[in-house]
Amino acid sequence: MRLLVTGGAGFIGSNFVRLTTAERPDVSMTVLDRLTYAGDRRSLDGLPIRFVEGDIADRDLVEELVREADAVVHFAAESHNDNSIADPSPFVHTNLVGTFTLLEAARRHGTRFHHISTDEVYGDLQLDDPARFTPETPYNPSSPYSSTKAGSDLLVRAWVRSFGLEATISNCSNNYGPYQHVEKFIPRQITGLIDGVRPRVYGSGANVRDWIHVDDHNRAVWSVLERGRIGETYLIGADCELSNLEVARALLEAFGRDPDDIELVADRPGHDLRYAIDASRLRDELGWRPSHPSFRDGLLSTVDWYRENEEWWRPAKAAVEASYAARHQ
Ligand code: NAD
Ligand code: DAU
Repeated sequence: MRLLVTGGAGFIGSNFVRLTTAERPDVSMTVLDRLTYAGDRRSLDGLPIRFVEGDIADRDLVEELVREADAVVHFAAESHNDNSIADPSPFVHTNLVGTFTLLEAARRHGTRFHHISTDEVYGDLQLDDPARFTPETPYNPSSPYSSTKAGSDLLVRAWVRSFGLEATISNCSNNYGPYQHVEKFIPRQITGLIDGVRPRVYGSGANVRDWIHVDDHNRAVWSVLERGRIGETYLIGADCELSNLEVARALLEAFGRDPDDIELVADRPGHDLRYAIDASRLRDELGWRPSHPSFRDGLLSTVDWYRENEEWWRPAKAAVEASYAARHQ
């Protein structure tokens, strides 16, 4: 099988390529990635893939690469909410125009397409709401990031219905694991703690995220790619709702520090309160189960990875902190 993996130099995409290399040696992969600030060629070092640096909105390049592929797994996106509030423009370009460009090429060539999306398309839940997101939850995105991801999902659905494209969509909750950019919550706090800086938590810290190890996300993507029903949406989550304060405390404990040594900083505008995934369809229909059921164990191995791979994250750290300082303090 020949896969075109977009965004394969980013956090989840590079873990997908590594997992696929280890577990499916029969799959050949071409990675298309623009190497934005979030993409890092080093995350793919040593992996037997073909790497193409380029933009998913480049029609000619996309045409050539989709023509050669049996399936497209589409990870590429602008992915960070805080950046989308500072400047939505690249989010419209990549998440909407880029996805449209890929869909048109897949339509021309009849190529199987899997679209990677987020639970944020559903908006947020109250803390005491017993509900969780299901594939039937109405779309209600809050940020420029989540609204462009919602738009990209709707493009995929329309291409299935109107053009018969063989596509599936998965909407996953918050991922953690190695190779995640230091702008994101968990790597930002781990690398801060390595530098002796206490965790910086937005608002009251009561916001809840539903955490999943990146390998569990990517194994679920493989389940959908191989056995998912065309036109369906699968929600991916591992039943791990935690408040940001709880995660910050777990990290402080991992560093042997006072678990309450947290700095509450200005909140994110429009900050979603709670996400929660009901992954019944994925579990019941496709038999998927997480292989990292313990968040604390996964978090400790992630801490170890950042301790052992400082040369990977250090070059980006100062600039990320400077931009947070300009926005939040
Ligand atoms: P990331 O920001 O770490 O990586 C994104 C990658 O896309 C980077 O390598 C970047 O260079 C590349 N890219 C950006 N614009 C591009 C363009 N125009 N052309 C080609 N490549 C481009 O993101 P991530 O966290 O790995 O997320 C991957 C996907 O998973 C995204 O679609 C995101 O919406 C989705 N997702 C992420 C999470 C999460 O917790 N991180 C959860 C659910 C879904
Ligand atoms: O739910 C899936 C989404 O998860 C993905 O679609 C996004 O691509 C991914 O970035 C992530 O979005 P969040 O906005 O939830 O992730 P982030 O890591 O930015 O923040 C997680 C929570 O932590 C959120 O409630 C904001 C908060 N936060 C974040 C940072 C960077 C802090 O309290 N302090 C921080 O310094």
